Amino acid sequence: MSGRAPAILDHLSALSDQTRSRLLLLLDRHELTVSELCAVVQLPQSTVSRHLKALADSGWIGARAEGPSNLYTMTREVDAPVRRLWLLVREQVGASAAAAQDQRRLQAALAGRRTKSQEFFSSSAGQWDRLRDELFGDRFHLLALGGLADRRWTVGDLGCGTGQVSAALAPFVARVIGVDASAAMLQAARRRLRGVANIELRRGDLEALPIDDARLDAASLMLVLHHLPEPERALAEVARVLRPGGRLLLVDMLPHDRERYRRQMGHVWLGFPDDHIRRALSDVGFEEIRIVSLPPDPRSKGPALFTAAAVNRTPPAAARI
Ligand SMILES: C[S@@+](CC[C@H](N)C(=O)[O-])C[C@H]1O[C@@H](n2cnc3c(N)ncnc32)[C@H](O)[C@@H]1O
Repeated sequence: MSGRAPAILDHLSALSDQTRSRLLLLLDRHELTVSELCAVVQLPQSTVSRHLKALADSGWIGARAEGPSNLYTMTREVDAPVRRLWLLVREQVGASAAAAQDQRRLQAALAGRRTKSQEFFSSSAGQWDRLRDELFGDRFHLLALGGLADRRWTVGDLGCGTGQVSAALAPFVARVIGVDASAAMLQAARRRLRGVANIELRRGDLEALPIDDARLDAASLMLVLHHLPEPERALAEVARVLRPGGRLLLVDMLPHDRERYRRQMGHVWLGFPDDHIRRALSDVGFEEIRIVSLPPDPRSKGPALFTAAAVNRTPPAAARI
C-alpha cells in the first residue's frame, strides 16, 4: 500500500474553507483580478491573495497576466473525481446567503469593467458618467426623486434614526412625522433637522406607533425591519396608520450570513428573502407589492439591499369593527 495520501484529500482540504469555496465559485465562471475578488467577497487583499495561493498550490485555479494585473480562473483540466467533488461543493456553497451576496457584487464588478472599457474608448457616455459624478456627486437625482411625492402628503419616517430620510422628504411634502425608539437617535435627528418647520419627531415604538389611525399618506421603513423582534406586528401597525391607498416604501437587507451584526449592531434578522416580505405585507393588507433588489454600491461594505413598495388596502379601524 502506498504511504502517500490520495490526491483527493488535498483537494478536499483546499475546499474546506468557506472563503476559498466562495472564491472558487466566482472563478468557476469568470476570470477575475485580485482587486475584483476583494470587492466581491469584501475581504482585504492580503486575505484573498492567501486563499488564492492555497487554491493555486492545490491545482484548483490558474492565472494569466493581463497588463499589470493577473486574471485568475478555475482550472478546467481536472480529473473526473475532482470535478465531481467540486460539483457537490458548488451545489452546497452556491445555495448559501454569502454566495448570493457575492453574485450581486460580481454583477456590480462586471458592470464596473464595462464602464472602464467605455472610458478606455473615450466614448462620450463613459466620460459623461465620470464628469457627472465629479461635478454633482452620484446621488443628487435620488434626492430629487422626492419631487414625485404629492405636496399635500403627510409622510411617516418610521425608525427615522438621525433623520436622513425625513430631511430628504421634507422639502417636497406637507408634513413629515419621524418616529424612533431611541432618544439619542432623535436628538441627532433634531440637530440635523433644526429649522425645518414641517417635521415633527416623536419617540415611540414601531410595534405601537404614536400616530392616529389612517393619518399618513405614505410611510418609509428604512433599514429598520431587521431590528424588530416581530416584524409582522410592526407592518400591521404601519397598515393601521396609513390611510387606505397610502403607500409604504421599505428598504432592508437581502439574506446574508453576517452573524456578527447581531452582537455589533443589535440585528435580530439576517436579512429577508423576497417571499417572506411579500407574504408579511400581504397578510396585513398591502397590495400591489413590488420588490426590487438594489444594485450594491461598489464603495459599500454591507450586504445587498432590496426595496419593497406597496399600497395599503386595510380598511380604516372604524370600518373593521
Ligand atoms: C439602522 S437605523 C436606520 C435609521 C434610518 N431609518 C436610516 O435609514 O438611516 C434603525 C433605527 O431604528 C430604530 N428602531 C429600532 N427598533 C425600533 C423600534 N422597535 N421602534 C422604533 N424604532 C426602532 C433605531 O433606534 C434606529 O434609529
